[in-house]
Amino acid sequence: MNKKAFIFDLDGVIVDTAKYHFLAWQKLAEEIGVDFTPEHNEELKGVSRVRSLEIILGLGNFQSSQEDKDKWLHQKNVDYLAYIKKMDESEILPAVYETLTFIKEHNQFIALGSASKNARPILEKVKLLHFFDAIVDGNDVTNAKPDPEVFLQAANLVGVSNENCIVFEDSQAGIKAANIANMTSIGIGDASILKEARYCFPNFLHIDSSFIDTLLKD
Ligand code: BG6
Ligand code: MG
Repeated sequence: MNKKAFIFDLDGVIVDTAKYHFLAWQKLAEEIGVDFTPEHNEELKGVSRVRSLEIILGLGNFQSSQEDKDKWLHQKNVDYLAYIKKMDESEILPAVYETLTFIKEHNQFIALGSASKNARPILEKVKLLHFFDAIVDGNDVTNAKPDPEVFLQAANLVGVSNENCIVFEDSQAGIKAANIANMTSIGIGDASILKEARYCFPNFLHIDSSFIDTLLKD
């Protein structure tokens, strides 16, 4: 049996940081006078910081200087870092630790495929870094999801072919990226939002070991 690679997104899959990204963007949007709702936020999930700001500015439909944009990007990250500073293992999403342990015990690869430039410090804070055979994050890629670059790099680092990779994602952009890469896409969240996912579960509590066993035999 070929060894598989299980590639995890970070924000909203391993830890509940999606809520902190939302709060930090919402604060900025308010300051610059843009109406920003949880529905708008779905479009920001999985996409880079720079692209997220462009989407928010697009909602307000106004032009801004590069200097302003740089200032806002910095400010958003400062606010976000204030949230993640306090993080510990209690913010690991339910049944993620058990899933990582199960995969490790079955001698399969585990990789990270995240758009975030803050991925490593977060994994350190929640003490999960040791599970990962490869980490690809926002510092490594030039093309953000839905471009598959982040997952392709992860597959490459562990030496597993695309069709033997399984991707866990909470964002529409990430599911698209996994599908484009010809990997098995598993949505974590609302199936009516993650329509393009091959499988979808509300969270890891709904993924039992027999399902992972089936993926291993696929
Ligand atoms: C993704 C998040 O994982 O990372 C996005 O879903 C976020 O919401 C992006 O904008 C970039 O993260 P960071 O930490 O580099 O600003
Ligand atoms: Mg995510």
